[in-house]
Amino acid sequence: MQSESLCTAPEVPGHWLWGSLPEYQRGRLKFLESVRREFGTAVTYRLGTHRVFLSCEPDVLKEVLVTRHRDFGKSASTLMLKDFFGESLLTSEGVRWFEDRRLMQPTFSADQVRKFGSTMVGQSLSYAGKLSNGEHRDVLRDMQELTMSIAAETLLGVTLADEVRSIHEPHDLIRSSFDARVEHPVASFPWLPTRQNRRVKEATREIHGIVNAIITRRRGDRVSGGDVLSRMLQFQEQNPGQLSDERIRNQVLTFLFAGHETTASVLGWAWYMLAVHPDVENRLYAELDEVLGDRDPEIQDIPNLNYTARFVRETLRLYPSVYMMSRRSLRDCQVGGFNIRRGTTILMSQWLMQRDARFYERPLSFDPDRWTADFQQNLNQFGWFPFGAGPRKCIGDSFAILETVLVIATIASRVRFRLQEGQAIVPYPSVTLRPSPGIRVFCEQRRADFAKSESQIPTRVQF
Ligand code: HEM
Repeated sequence: MQSESLCTAPEVPGHWLWGSLPEYQRGRLKFLESVRREFGTAVTYRLGTHRVFLSCEPDVLKEVLVTRHRDFGKSASTLMLKDFFGESLLTSEGVRWFEDRRLMQPTFSADQVRKFGSTMVGQSLSYAGKLSNGEHRDVLRDMQELTMSIAAETLLGVTLADEVRSIHEPHDLIRSSFDARVEHPVASFPWLPTRQNRRVKEATREIHGIVNAIITRRRGDRVSGGDVLSRMLQFQEQNPGQLSDERIRNQVLTFLFAGHETTASVLGWAWYMLAVHPDVENRLYAELDEVLGDRDPEIQDIPNLNYTARFVRETLRLYPSVYMMSRRSLRDCQVGGFNIRRGTTILMSQWLMQRDARFYERPLSFDPDRWTADFQQNLNQFGWFPFGAGPRKCIGDSFAILETVLVIATIASRVRFRLQEGQAIVPYPSVTLRPSPGIRVFCEQRRADFAKSESQIPTRVQF
């Protein structure tokens, strides 16, 4: 947490000691919405001694993330991620970040990402092939397992079988400890020897063990590919002493988790949106049936899956996995006409910007049709920025979009998910914005070959 500093933007009145912490803890999204509604596009508030400047002005976001990014570093929330990921592309800064980014970037070139399409379809087929008509599932959990398998195969060059399940248990524990720390930002003491903190440490060790085993296995293979792990191993071999084993482990953790949790949340929301908007569902099916007939998608189909792409865009608009981002000012400065002291946290929220009536008509309606080429061209850069902006923009943005479109197209061609009754599904804002407590569905056959046995399904479809 940073020490208190002064901004001249309007301030939310709060408790003398806790500031706005009680309101924040009662509901983070509602709190953000209410300060935006009551105080406008620039406001400060306190969480204990921690002072936050929230801006909803596109020009300010551009300054902070793009044009003057050197004046702002990653903020306190990144320190929380560091406890788990250590120093990695997501958490490091300066020269180390730049070198890491340069090393990883080729894996995310347009050509390389297109090559990953076959694995995305193959893994989705393998998942759909295991479902049976009428079966009950938690589709959010399923998406977490599916996206982790895709991330492992594409980004690390390994297939995870049993590990997917053995990673999920310790990962759930770590996720709930993140949830607690996001909820109680002032009163979380991960270094205290409490039972919960010990369990989290143990879970982290367990995951590190699994990740180390993946690296050892890959080192032994001596097969180089376009994935990030083989790039790092090759670099380590060619540049002795420049890339430690620990750093490789941190990057592998980052790609495995940042690369699956975010897309799993979007996919979870996407299935939910289809289930509650039958008109949208029918339009999507009509497009899949017209473009694909009874075959599975291929990378060449992407330009023709227009409605599916607009549907994914709209899902990311209303339910952005990363619903807020922050930076810390590295020096006293002015932003958007306000004085910002060194150490102030600057908060920028996708949740607020992407539901803002300045950018969208009927901003709370789910309407994939709003994404015409003309609308997209005229939309402010910060009206839709689920992947951030500037040099720290998500490295996996096109990977994530391609994955979401292909997973939906492959599965929705075969299966319809119907919501089980009696569920209240709400957005839970933790590290990502998850549908909580999950999405319980039952499966309905769409295509006759939906339930064909797994052995009949190719695990890799070649494009
Ligand atoms: C829908 C899915 C995703 C969303 C919404 C998302 C969102 C974001 C955002 C907003 C940032 C910028 C954070 C900041 O500037 O503070 C970011 C960074 C990052 N994302 Fe993603 N992401 C997604 C998928 C992925 C995938 C699939 C990968 C891996 C393949 C990935 C890996 C990363 C990494 C490594 C960074 C740090 C980049 C850097 O600082 O250079 N993300 N992501």
